[in-house]
Amino acid sequence: MKKEEILKLKESILKDFKDIKDSKKLEELRLKYNGKKGLMIELSKNMGSLSNEAKKEFGALLNEVKNLFNAKFNEISEDLKQKEINKKLANETIDITLPGTRVKTGSKHILSQISEELENLFVSMGYDVVEGPEVESDYLCFEVLNVPKGHPARDMQDTFYITDEMLLRTQTSSVQARTMMANIEKSPIRMVCLGKTYRKDEDASHSHQFMQIEGLVIDKGISLANLKGTLEVMMKKLLGDDVSVRFRPSYFPFTEPSYEVDVSCFKCGGKGCPLCKQTGWIEVLGSGMVHPNVLRNCGYDPEIYSGFAFGAGIERLAMFKYGVPDIRTFYANDLRFLDNFSGKEVE
Ligand code: DAH
Repeated sequence: MKKEEILKLKESILKDFKDIKDSKKLEELRLKYNGKKGLMIELSKNMGSLSNEAKKEFGALLNEVKNLFNAKFNEISEDLKQKEINKKLANETIDITLPGTRVKTGSKHILSQISEELENLFVSMGYDVVEGPEVESDYLCFEVLNVPKGHPARDMQDTFYITDEMLLRTQTSSVQARTMMANIEKSPIRMVCLGKTYRKDEDASHSHQFMQIEGLVIDKGISLANLKGTLEVMMKKLLGDDVSVRFRPSYFPFTEPSYEVDVSCFKCGGKGCPLCKQTGWIEVLGSGMVHPNVLRNCGYDPEIYSGFAFGAGIERLAMFKYGVPDIRTFYANDLRFLDNFSGKEVE
């Protein structure tokens, strides 16, 4: 074993480590010099046959070469690592000056917005929001409400029967009956119910499926004044303080006396126009004092308890509020219409 061999090894290391550009090449060099069968290991194996003096000398030289190898190896390995990171960062860089991609978000449908507005209003007046099934019995939809089979009032609410006794509810009034019947303690009732209703109807102002809000208040000593005050608040909150509200005697089988409620025409302000058929008024809901028969049918003594009820079409209210001429527009899913109520910038 000669000193030259070690010097040669040193030169070879210096040469080999000159142009390393990738980690695969670096690994090859590691194996070549420092692997189990690498050149540095081979040389150190040969040292066993040397004299102590020579061992010392070669040992020192070999260490020098090993240190050189390690230094070069670490230096290049660090360098490659850094280059890798830089490349990754370069790929990940975003140009924040580029125009963004617009994300299409949904928004609440106008009917949901109005429903929530109404719910919030009634909750603020101490009402509960209750629900009832859309598939209802003939009994709860009609009979309990003083509309027996064969009653002419049924003609106005022709609907989809599932069996002779089950139907898609034509009115949320069935939920009045459900609420009263469930209230065994006869505690005061203040409730609204908002939901879908169905009738065999289809034109610009009628749809086979539409939404209603139903209200019911039952307690001792409830009078027409309570009904008037409540509905006036409802209409003014919904349509604006300028709106005038008119109570017109009418007929519903489940109320006595009954009133149709009109509001001053939003379009002409009450002067008279084609929308209000020159009357200055638009009919928005039905209401009245709960009929004694209904109270009795639902387990209440009409001598002790009284109450008022009302029901309105939510689409109809939205049509007045926003001047929508055709009810079918609400269900057509046309974004050009819906985006007007989304609160988003219209493109
Ligand atoms: N249910 C009636 C309808 O669909 C509306 C109505 C009128 C509801 C008078 C009531 C009421 O609660 O008292 O035409």
